[in-house]
Amino acid sequence: MKVYLNSIQISDAIAFMADDIKKDYENTPITIICILKGAFIFCADLIRHLEMSVQVEFLQVSSYQGTESTGVVTITNMPENLQGKHVLIVEDIVDTGICLKHVIDKLHEQQPASLKVAALVSKPSRRIEKVSVDYVGFEIPDKFIVGYGLDYNQQYRSLPYIGVLED
Ligand code: IMP
Ligand code: MG
Repeated sequence: MKVYLNSIQISDAIAFMADDIKKDYENTPITIICILKGAFIFCADLIRHLEMSVQVEFLQVSSYQGTESTGVVTITNMPENLQGKHVLIVEDIVDTGICLKHVIDKLHEQQPASLKVAALVSKPSRRIEKVSVDYVGFEIPDKFIVGYGLDYNQQYRSLPYIGVLED
């Protein structure tokens, strides 16, 4: 395992993102939607930097097996009653954008007052669906990363850093 982003780089990036978020919402209460499983650690760290009123909801999306997206997206535990709320999706990584596009489309049906996205990592070169990501921790090239919530076949989520698997 090669360290790609160490824990200090990660916590610095999260503090930056939190500052931007605080500035933009100016104390407007928000509803965070944490996308399981990958975003649970990022979300936990991010909300502790926010110092504002947040409600936290969780939903689960899956499409991956190994290092490839299966293309079939399933959403479970969709939160309800989001109409009129300021919703911020918290995602671990945006790759093809297919998962996020599904989540955004589904959430829009509930007519939130606003809908934004915070992602710890983005791989722009991999994008298939056009999705706008409002807050990004790191833009990276096409690499498969693990750790800090991210998995390879459910392994490595507990690493305190982000690493690249060597095969
Ligand atoms: P997308 O639909 O292709 O954008 O995939 C998004 C989801 O795939 C993310 O939320 C992750 O759960 C997973 N994923 C994408 N790239 C990686 C990676 O490099 N490591 C681990 N999981 C990844
Ligand atoms: Mg995910």
